[in-house]
Amino acid sequence: MSTLSSGVSARFDVERIRQDFPVLQQTIHGKPLVYLDNAATAQKPRAVIDAIVKFYEVDCANIHRGVHELSQRSTAAYEETRSKVRRFLNARSNHEIVFVRGTTEGINLVTQTWGRANLKPGDEIIIAGLEHHSNIVPWQILCEQAGARLRIIPIDDRGDLLLEEYEKLLGPRTRMVAIGHVSNALGTINPVRRIVRMAHDAGALTLIDGAQAVPHMPVDVCALDADFYAFSGHKLFGPTGIGVLYGRADLLEAMPPYQGGGDMIRTVTFEKTTYNDLPYKFEAGTPDIAGGIGLGAAVDYVTRLGMDKIAAYEHELLLYATDALERIPGLHIIGTAREKAAVLSFVMQGIHPHDIGTVLDHQGIAVRTGHHCAQPVMDRYHIPATTRASLAFYNTAGEIDALVAGLYKVKEVFDE
Ligand SMILES: Cc1ncc(COP(=O)(O)O)c(C=O)c1O
Repeated sequence: MSTLSSGVSARFDVERIRQDFPVLQQTIHGKPLVYLDNAATAQKPRAVIDAIVKFYEVDCANIHRGVHELSQRSTAAYEETRSKVRRFLNARSNHEIVFVRGTTEGINLVTQTWGRANLKPGDEIIIAGLEHHSNIVPWQILCEQAGARLRIIPIDDRGDLLLEEYEKLLGPRTRMVAIGHVSNALGTINPVRRIVRMAHDAGALTLIDGAQAVPHMPVDVCALDADFYAFSGHKLFGPTGIGVLYGRADLLEAMPPYQGGGDMIRTVTFEKTTYNDLPYKFEAGTPDIAGGIGLGAAVDYVTRLGMDKIAAYEHELLLYATDALERIPGLHIIGTAREKAAVLSFVMQGIHPHDIGTVLDHQGIAVRTGHHCAQPVMDRYHIPATTRASLAFYNTAGEIDALVAGLYKVKEVFDE
């Protein structure tokens, strides 16, 4: 098996870490599973699975409402996750951590509360040309509702944002700049701090879609000075159905509620309802309690590994994988930004990505093929789809070798 060359990998005991992930211990079509679809969803360590099982086996009760022991325990565990997430993102207060279903719901919450309350005809929202659909469509819906206009920062051939074009788009009509921190289709790490500063200088707010950043690098919302920041638990090695919207407390305070129902109210009469304090004003109904508790275990897990160490290891793996893939004749990597996360999108001459994905699956290798919910990115490169290998800290150089061998197999099958 190949190993990585530098000291980083030596200090990161990936073989031991892999033992924490039950799903990785299996064979697919008789071959060891090589899971390279982490941008879609990441696998869950035993600690996360155990936390969820413990909730259902020992502590199961609804939260915030009961005086009985089980309700107290489940409330404490759920709220403890809020504190863990606050520390993880370096937010100022638990009031700023709103639990949602995921990044998608976090963005929709902002468009339908802040957006509907604040946007006027003629106002402008800026997004980038490499957004995931979930950071495009909610803004499109809002713009239609408000008579506002969506403006797009173009990208260059490498997949870097054209910041000089961004500067030109910014103006007195700009109300919000909503940008992906890391592109799921290309791996580009956007210069978020700079983008936020430029938006603020123009008097606009910012929302950062952190779905692909939070699992792979340290994120500090105060240092970024982001007004809103959203991410999904399931991409952070936690459960599906839970995610986080960070929002600056003064903004959240001024926003109307998102959904009405239990838990988000202080008093209700038929004449008038008053709303609960932050963040509960935005958390109507029984939430995904087990998911919240599982997310807390996931945050603990990656914190123990160290986000700095995760980022350094994955960067090394990315360099190794990029070098290996570039050597394959006819393979072309899409997305070569200067700052990149460990996402490798590529096309192979004359071979459809779905065929690549199918042959790789027979080798036990899970990659994603398609437009990756980023159709405008595909249009930008004039391609219908790519094959995408997206890495996580439990992937190894040996798995990259298996991918390369699998791709030579693809060539054997499809090249005349
Ligand atoms: C950059 C980006 N934003 C948003 C999302 C949406 O995340 P979710 O489906 O968990 O809401 C994804 C999912 O792939 C993503 O990659």
